[in-house]
Amino acid sequence: MTEAAPPAPSATVVVPDSEAMEQLGRRLAGLLGAGDLLVLTGPLGAGKTTLTRGIGAGLHVRGQVASPTFVLARTHPSESGVPLVHVDAYRLGGAGELDDLDLDFDGSVVVVEWGAGLLDGVADSWLDVVIDRPRGAGGADPADEAPAVDEAPAADRGDDLLDALDEPRRVTLTAHGPRWAGVELPLGPSSGAS
Ligand SMILES: Nc1ncnc2c1ncn2[C@@H]1O[C@H](COP(=O)(O)OP(=O)(O)OP(=O)(O)O)[C@@H](O)[C@H]1O
Ligand SMILES: [Mg+2]
Repeated sequence: MTEAAPPAPSATVVVPDSEAMEQLGRRLAGLLGAGDLLVLTGPLGAGKTTLTRGIGAGLHVRGQVASPTFVLARTHPSESGVPLVHVDAYRLGGAGELDDLDLDFDGSVVVVEWGAGLLDGVADSWLDVVIDRPRGAGGADPADEAPAVDEAPAADRGDDLLDALDEPRRVTLTAHGPRWAGVELPLGPSSGAS
């Protein structure tokens, strides 16, 4: 067997509200360029689209970043020339269907909601972003997690109930591959500060 690879750089932060989640996205955007891939994992309403909206703002994209549920993937041109491709893989049947979208991974920043397990072999480097909803302040045991409110993605539910509830999310960022070697992840104690 080969030697164990060094552990992937990883960091966790508690994000108190949706505004702070957007801010985290803006900070992440500062690291991102063409060819970068982020895979967002978290239950319905976790804040994946909210984070992506912040990334879009940080990249100065044109057009509102919203839940792309009905289009699977939406490309937002940006002032810098590097577009943001926002994918919602919730309804994709598998990696083959993602492949069929023929995304421009090399020329874009690609953010995939519900992408875990669908992107094997697509890129040699990517950022895994896991968002969960700890109960109580400061994070807690995942067994204590809130049950899913509904079986449909936020865009389908059409209810604004969750929008009213700002509550902390725990965000864990793990960097994979050579692209991220030695790169400091922007999750520090200042996260959420304005
Ligand atoms: N700390 C927080 N971070 C992010 N969003 C929060 C937070 N607290 C409350 N919210 C609310 O939770 C909701 C998150 O919705 P969002 O569409 O971003 O989730 P999602 O993970 O993309 O869901 P889906 O799986 O349906 O696509 C928003 O209504 C947002 O205002
Ligand atoms: Mg979403």
